[in-house]
Amino acid sequence: MDSSTIFLLAIVALLGLMFVFVFATARRRDAERAAEAAPSIEERAEAATANLPVPVGHASASGRELERTVALDRRGSQVATPDVPPAPLPAPLDEEALGVTRRQVLNRGIVTTFALTLSGFGAACVAMLWPSLSGGFGSKIRVGKIDDILADIATKKEPFYLAAGRLYINPYPKEGVEKAKKILAYTAVVEGYNDGVVALYQKCVHLGCRVPWCKTSQWFECPCHGSQYNRVGEKKGGPAPRGLDRFAASVDGGILVVDTKAVIPGPPIGTNTTGQEAEGPHCIGAASEH
Ligand code: FES
Repeated sequence: MDSSTIFLLAIVALLGLMFVFVFATARRRDAERAAEAAPSIEERAEAATANLPVPVGHASASGRELERTVALDRRGSQVATPDVPPAPLPAPLDEEALGVTRRQVLNRGIVTTFALTLSGFGAACVAMLWPSLSGGFGSKIRVGKIDDILADIATKKEPFYLAAGRLYINPYPKEGVEKAKKILAYTAVVEGYNDGVVALYQKCVHLGCRVPWCKTSQWFECPCHGSQYNRVGEKKGGPAPRGLDRFAASVDGGILVVDTKAVIPGPPIGTNTTGQEAEGPHCIGAASEH
């Protein structure tokens, strides 16, 4: 189970616990208020029988027992009726006694709103993490058969573009691998070079425009401020502070896998492991080192 899945489960569990806690607290408060406000069965029976003495321990007697006591008292069998006027009947049970007060309605409304807000937050978290759960950007992506991908690139003379991963795949020449192994910035990606591919992040490292491919020069050329990068994303010109950022790639059973969980910063200016020069006219200005 990867870290994003654990994070997602933790959020869902936390939301669930918060909801249960808030709901249980609100219910308990409602019950306490209703218990305080409502007259007990005994109290109502006592009032209804107009000043009959209350038997000892009435608080725990059942309604049936009280009725029996009242009936016996009416027959004059045990207890003398005090010579006082009957007490007025209690007022009709108010909203508080019925357990449905405006405050309770308000409390339940707040709890419901709170729960809906939390649910919305949870849904937003799920939506945010969804790509990493479904094999999109932010996860390990199985791009396809390496042979098919390389054949497609050779036929079209342009990189294989994977929109879901926001990346380009280009071939990495075998003769560049030994040079690349000596460059610190390539430590995490050299395995892909060994397998003959480089996976480049589409975002220009200058100010973040998506860098298109220039079919005539066979370079990446940024339309925003003119940065240029060769086929393997090494910086050739413009204001970019380094080569294109990239992802670790590997071939697993003939399938190209690109790990987009980590964006690996591109190589420093001056890195040139392939010696590829522009193969035709530029789409954006001319190459110029900065
Ligand atoms: S964003 Fe690409 S050169 Fe500025």
